[in-house]
Amino acid sequence: MMDLVIPDKVHDESRQGEALILEPAAGKNNGRKLYIESYGCAMNFSDSEIVASILSEQGFETTADFSVADVIFINTCSIRENAEQRVRNRLKEFTVAKVRNPGLVVGVLGCMAERLKAKFLEEEKLVDVVVGPDAYRDLPNLIDQVDSGQKAVNVLLSREETYADISPVRLNSNGINAFVSIMRGCDNMCSFCVVPFTRGRERSRDPQSIVAECTDLFNKGYREVTLLGQNVDSYKWKQSEAGLAKSEGSEEAGEALSLGEDLVEAGAGVNFANLLEMVALISPELRVRFSTSHPKDITDDVLYTINQYDNICNYIHLPVQSGNSRILEMMNRTYDRDWYINRIDAIRRIIPDCAVSTDVITGFCSETDEEHDDTVSMMDYVKYDFAYMFKYSERPGTLAAKRYKDDIPEEIKQKRLAQIVAKQQEYSFYRMQARIGKVEKVLIEGYSKKSDKDYCGRSDQNAMVIFPVGDNYKPGEYVDVLVERSTSATLIGKVV
Ligand code: 5AD
Ligand code: SF4
Repeated sequence: MMDLVIPDKVHDESRQGEALILEPAAGKNNGRKLYIESYGCAMNFSDSEIVASILSEQGFETTADFSVADVIFINTCSIRENAEQRVRNRLKEFTVAKVRNPGLVVGVLGCMAERLKAKFLEEEKLVDVVVGPDAYRDLPNLIDQVDSGQKAVNVLLSREETYADISPVRLNSNGINAFVSIMRGCDNMCSFCVVPFTRGRERSRDPQSIVAECTDLFNKGYREVTLLGQNVDSYKWKQSEAGLAKSEGSEEAGEALSLGEDLVEAGAGVNFANLLEMVALISPELRVRFSTSHPKDITDDVLYTINQYDNICNYIHLPVQSGNSRILEMMNRTYDRDWYINRIDAIRRIIPDCAVSTDVITGFCSETDEEHDDTVSMMDYVKYDFAYMFKYSERPGTLAAKRYKDDIPEEIKQKRLAQIVAKQQEYSFYRMQARIGKVEKVLIEGYSKKSDKDYCGRSDQNAMVIFPVGDNYKPGEYVDVLVERSTSATLIGKVV
């Protein structure tokens, strides 16, 4: 199967299975080495940074080489069957390390933990500890239990846990962009999706802690934050948090914090539009991105806020899943084709020059050729800048698995997928070509993958831009790049 892959959002293929490395912790370092590798979405990679932070407090060091590790964690994803398969194969490789070093602790974290805990512990004897996404604070105890010869499990989901007070250790970071989790879980119950079962109920994180984390990142030199949640548009914070520390950072952060306090005190609470504004106020030099938006919840207010602040990037990831209203209803997406088109029209009206990307599932239960054509015509209507495209994969326990038959033959799923992948390639190229001759404001991220004679960075619309290295600018700075040519994934130009 071929998934069209775009870095940074949803599943970044280039990072799948990446191991994270952290500077040795000072203090009560007991010298044990932690190896942690992550699969799945940006939220999982961000969670691994929380795990590393919790364990570095306990004196763990990280290593990028699992053969020297004392503890191996694999942070797993359940979203599609092939994601789970990948993790299983990897776990088998760790068996070899365990045979060599019987004291080695092997743990499964994340979304597969709840679903497969019994299987992992009983059938696949190699796993010592299984920990769900809301139980990472319990890791030090769980590791102690394993050290004393027991298996350890905590897959309890929480209604409150947001890890708000834990400042994640940034791993494998370029020091320029960081992910900041603003909420956890999901209440939407899309019928194909396992996330509400693996990550539990939706809860929002205290806005003051989000602003504090982003301010701290800015002060450390970071220039871009991506606010993460399964459905950022339903972000809501009502509780009054009197007594929370005022910002120690810039004056602007003080302004952001008092905006939040005013909203909470007035009883209105902080919604996503307010939160975006609070983060944007930290500094005009800090770019703000966010993912994922939900078509049913994205409001005009959010769009006006994006348009109002230059540092909130003009880029929205708005998963459509299907362009057909009957399929959308079966998917329990709670919007129909017309509603989605209305949201796209609102984006085009309110934010001139906004890039839009999407997720599409082909071959959902009972989808006809004509219904698939509605997805194709939606792509023609929107002309997405990027798309992540998937064949439907039935997940145990989901509403679709209970209610509907996974009855579209594999060849048809594949054919429909290939058709939309080809279509998307055309539109990605079309969108890129439309930038030729324009000047893009680019935040330099580092050398391009192919050559250290070129820098790369992203435009406001999230396009990757490549241009020659120069003496007058360096990573972490903004430059204006005149676009001279493009591929379907990259803009190429020179600094002006
Ligand atoms: N089968 C295929 N794709 C899925 N996604 C979620 N669940 C499934 C599934 N069971 C896709 C959706 C979602 C993205 C993160 O993964 O398109 O937006
Ligand atoms: Fe899954 Fe739907 Fe929630 Fe996204 S919004 S995580 S697809 S249930």
